[in-house]
Amino acid sequence: MEVTGTAGVPGDKSITHRLLLLAGLIPGRSRIRGALTSLDARSTARVLRALGAGVSALRAGAEVVVRGRARFRQPAASLACGNSGTSARLLLGLLAAHRFRSRLTGDASLRRRPMRRVTEPLVRMGARFDGPDPAPDRLPLVVRGGPLAPLVWELPVSSAQIKGCLLFAGLAGAAPVALREPGGRSRDHTERLLRAFGYALAEDAAGWIRFEPTGRLEPFDLEVPGDPSSAAFLVGAALLANAGSLRVEGIGLNPTRAGYLRVLDRMGARISVVARGTRCGEPVGDLVVQPTALRATTVTAGEIPGLIDEIPLLAVLASRADGTTRFQQVGELRVKESDRLGLLAANLRAVGAAAAVEGDTLAVLGGERPPRGPVRTEGDHRIAMAFAVLGTVGGARVRVDDLACAAVSFPGFEETLRSVDAGRRGGSR
Ligand code: S3P
Repeated sequence: MEVTGTAGVPGDKSITHRLLLLAGLIPGRSRIRGALTSLDARSTARVLRALGAGVSALRAGAEVVVRGRARFRQPAASLACGNSGTSARLLLGLLAAHRFRSRLTGDASLRRRPMRRVTEPLVRMGARFDGPDPAPDRLPLVVRGGPLAPLVWELPVSSAQIKGCLLFAGLAGAAPVALREPGGRSRDHTERLLRAFGYALAEDAAGWIRFEPTGRLEPFDLEVPGDPSSAAFLVGAALLANAGSLRVEGIGLNPTRAGYLRVLDRMGARISVVARGTRCGEPVGDLVVQPTALRATTVTAGEIPGLIDEIPLLAVLASRADGTTRFQQVGELRVKESDRLGLLAANLRAVGAAAAVEGDTLAVLGGERPPRGPVRTEGDHRIAMAFAVLGTVGGARVRVDDLACAAVSFPGFEETLRSVDAGRRGGSR
């Protein structure tokens, strides 16, 4: 295809969840502009309402107004987190500091995802869980919160959801928390927001993050940057195009999220970054992307946390690059919205590309044959969007079984992808 024009993407998913949750615990009205209004963001909003906060309807283009309260109210029913692991894990941190029982659940995918990584440290802090397992590993689970003790904890995997959960527990429970991630740094949105509220949060040379719950939450009015993970799909489509140029506007460029841009740079991608100031304490800018013949690279273990959500997209790009690309130590992908590692390799093969999982490494051999074949998403939004992008290649015939699941993180994905295609603009074709 030929790309053209300028596109924006919906608000950052991680920042939207965090702002909604923080606002829910701040008495008064907070305003969030540019919030993501996807299914995942709606899950957080729905649960907040069940906990007594007022949250206006999440509608694209409309500001979200949250009327928070200093403490949540005991919910009358189960708290349903849908497909959203971020909602479940961050909420668990907040609920651990509330003296009531609440039951958390989610859809079939979320009920398969590991929770012990957060329940275990929360138990250390003083939370209790009903049932035979003191630190249950799966939803649904019933948490009984209460007074929390300080925590010193080394995370089993680098994960912003674990970090966010424990920092939120420290915040709501007024308990100091010290954390360390084992590998590369995961996204640091929670840390940035807490600092912005005046909390003491420092990181030492050994990687310990020390949080002292000393600040003060005040109602806020903030604008969310465009989601760099959503932008990645448009960037990918522009790189695979055979002509034109695309500008993706107003996206977050936090270095703990921009790992995919560093990898694409090594692959030879023609992308220029135009800085546009900051939003929510995060650097924001535009990406100007030109079609490029890519070369293979090795993505090392330390880089993975900084691009964890972009691996499906990078893998489909690798299938068009010159040489074999390796993604090292990507075992975490097995416990995302699907077994993303197995599904990625299987789908790449289904469309005629060569891909293999060797231990925890994903190897993708690039080629020039047009991708053709069926793609099974298992409801995983990022698998769906990555293969839809691959389907834009000349001569491709990629049949994604469910593209509607893109609405989990990127409402309007199909329309946006169509709008950047010079040949399909305005519905021609
Ligand atoms: C997220 C963290 C990531 C990411 C997810 C959102 C967050 O998960 O995959 O889409 O907002 O904290 P992990 O940090 O647990 O890998």
